[in-house]
Amino acid sequence: MLDLSTVRTDLAEHYDLAPSLELAEATKDIYARMDRVVTPADWAVYAPYVVAINELKKKRGAVILAHNYMTPDIYHGVADFVGDSLQLAIKATEVEDDVIVQCGVHFMAETSKILNPRKTVLMPDMEAGCSLASSITAEGVEQMRAKYPGAPVVTYVNTTAEVKAASDICCTSSNAAQIVAAQDSDTVIMTPDKYLAQNVAKQVPGKKIVWWDGSCIVHEQYTAQDLKEFREWNPGTRIIAHPECPPDVVAEADYSGSTSGIISYVENEKPEKAMLVTECSMASNISDALPEVDFIGPCNMCPFMKKITLEKVLYSLHTMTTPVEVDAAVADKARLAVQRMIDLSKQLGI
Ligand code: 13P
Ligand code: SF4
Repeated sequence: MLDLSTVRTDLAEHYDLAPSLELAEATKDIYARMDRVVTPADWAVYAPYVVAINELKKKRGAVILAHNYMTPDIYHGVADFVGDSLQLAIKATEVEDDVIVQCGVHFMAETSKILNPRKTVLMPDMEAGCSLASSITAEGVEQMRAKYPGAPVVTYVNTTAEVKAASDICCTSSNAAQIVAAQDSDTVIMTPDKYLAQNVAKQVPGKKIVWWDGSCIVHEQYTAQDLKEFREWNPGTRIIAHPECPPDVVAEADYSGSTSGIISYVENEKPEKAMLVTECSMASNISDALPEVDFIGPCNMCPFMKKITLEKVLYSLHTMTTPVEVDAAVADKARLAVQRMIDLSKQLGI
């Protein structure tokens, strides 16, 4: 576990991280990307970290890959590439830098390492997990295979390397329905997200889809009743839900898609009022670029994604910790499942 007092003492010895109006002014172009959601006072606190990270990134030959759920200071301030899980996995196959800092959760860093065994992949906080990833083990996949002999296993990328290695192909929220539809079998096993599986089942009615009993602690909290009531009180609001939400919640939404799908939908449609039924940082990250859209309504925070902070990113680059390691034999098998997904997605034009 990261000891924050050690982190702070160590950083204070090497960097001047005191709030700075001067650095806030010098980085006003970066701040302009988030000034609708970050106060000037907060930016004076963040600016010294942003400057230090961006300088150190160059020195270390590092690239920062950040998920759409990162806070705006990371998303706009230090990330070199932002995206959903599929985009981050594809980007990990393309980066030339020797060091990848993964601003996201552990399974994302593992996926980058699986695809780049020779590169150093750093996780700023190893405790950034995921309720879906911790809901299943490789034995769980074998149990499903024993129950449904011959059925292919399509595993969500929100899983450990061992679970991916035990699967036939991976999927993400942006390609799940197409990957399942492309399987040459009437029955398809989906792990570990029961809600994603149930949502896919509606999109691919020709197949019998069976699922593991996992769920996302962020998206399972939404209810269809909440959404119905919200619509009554706020007529005209466009409701946009991530497919990790229960199917009755997705049925209440105007659109459902991956985190990047959600961003594209709002950018294209520019609704007057939008409720993003997903993690809170999503609306914050796109708010400045879409001043005509009012983001309203409740959102839920992912406690794992929120473990990644500017301070920890700086410490990670400063100390080159913590490198993510995956057993070579496991990585070889897991790579097959991830690469099959990437290849099929490209073939299908996703
Ligand atoms: P996306 O692949 O849609 O970015 O989702 C990842 C995730 O963890 C959502 O909770
Ligand atoms: Fe996992 Fe849910 Fe957090 Fe995404 S939002 S990382 S699925 S716990």
